[in-house]
Amino acid sequence: MSTSRIPTGEHIKFAYWVPNVSGGLVISKIEQRTHWDIDYNRRLAQTAEKAGFDYALSQIRFTAGYGAEYQHESVSFTHALLASTERLKVIAAILPGPWTPALLAKQVATINHLTHGRIAVNIVSGWFRGEFNAIGEHWLDHDERYRRSEEFIRAIRGIWSQDNFSFSGDFYRFNDYTLRPKPLDPQPEIFQGGSSRAARDMAARVSDWYFTNGNTPEGIKAQIDDIRAKAEAEGRTVKIGVNAFVIARDTEEEARQVLAEIVEQADPEAVNAFGHEVKQAGKASPEGEGNWAKSTFEDLVQYNDGFRTNLIGTPQQIAERILALKDVGVDLVLTGYLHFIEEVEYFGQKVLPLVRELEERRLRKAA
Ligand SMILES: Cc1cc2nc3c(=O)[nH]c(=O)nc-3n(C[C@H](O)[C@H](O)[C@H](O)COP(=O)(O)O)c2cc1C
Repeated sequence: MSTSRIPTGEHIKFAYWVPNVSGGLVISKIEQRTHWDIDYNRRLAQTAEKAGFDYALSQIRFTAGYGAEYQHESVSFTHALLASTERLKVIAAILPGPWTPALLAKQVATINHLTHGRIAVNIVSGWFRGEFNAIGEHWLDHDERYRRSEEFIRAIRGIWSQDNFSFSGDFYRFNDYTLRPKPLDPQPEIFQGGSSRAARDMAARVSDWYFTNGNTPEGIKAQIDDIRAKAEAEGRTVKIGVNAFVIARDTEEEARQVLAEIVEQADPEAVNAFGHEVKQAGKASPEGEGNWAKSTFEDLVQYNDGFRTNLIGTPQQIAERILALKDVGVDLVLTGYLHFIEEVEYFGQKVLPLVRELEERRLRKAA
């Protein structure tokens, strides 16, 4: 199935990583003007909303490791950001295991009512074995983690949509359960993260959105083609979000220089330790295609391979590359920055209008 799409009026969407975890998004000693506290995050969410961002994505971490010394919990933090904004949708990261579907379905239904439907969830399957050990959670094999996540998603969808919900899985059970109140219509969107075959298969069967690590347009296209073909066979559609670490500067030289400095000042011990952990976690994916399977040292300096998407350069270059991502079927770009508030503002002023202009131009050409 081809993913080169005829342009529609649908705009590509933008999200940013919520820094609810300390230390920034690169494992480097370079200065990162960001903060994990609520005051900084409220200002950032309001800035992003004003700049034209659609979503904010929170992170879930239970312990420190490779930076990330402090970590605020994702659902409560998500609610605080929703309460400080008016239109922004905030995605709460959820790890099956520590969360049960009964608790999550109820928490999200309540926040959905409190915020008139603006909460979404990102179901993550876990990569950090040390974290699971620290909190006394069983570490399942790679594909078993996805089997549990899929049951988790089926369970929350069932609870949100049916009365007298019953479910009998290998991980979860429900007997004649009725949640009241249910979320407002439409149901909260369900995102997921991962790149392995298990992740793609799960996306095709149960998720609304598939988030993947940074990659080249060709690498992303291969994943999208696979997911969309599988989803079509299930009679479903899945939207795609890709991670990118954005370095937008007035000249390309300046932007490239910033990347060079980030990598020069990388903390090799921490980068290698992180690389070891994620590659171990991914190795268990039988086909070896998971996130980080092909990451180099430079890629690993950014936690989710964000340099590989190459949104590094002038606003014009970045806008054109975003359109190239849209051309292969990407619906949303998840962005990270070195200096969050100021760069989100710059992105909104300089890059976003160019993206919209290019989208309009394509639409006129197609008509
Ligand atoms: C955009 C994105 C966000 C993620 N957020 C988290 C998170 O907050 N916490 C976490 O433990 N894992 C997170 N993950 C990790 C994934 O859930 C998954 O464990 C990892 O990508 C490896 O999956 P794979 O082997 O299927 O590629 C995220 C992944 C992506 C792509």
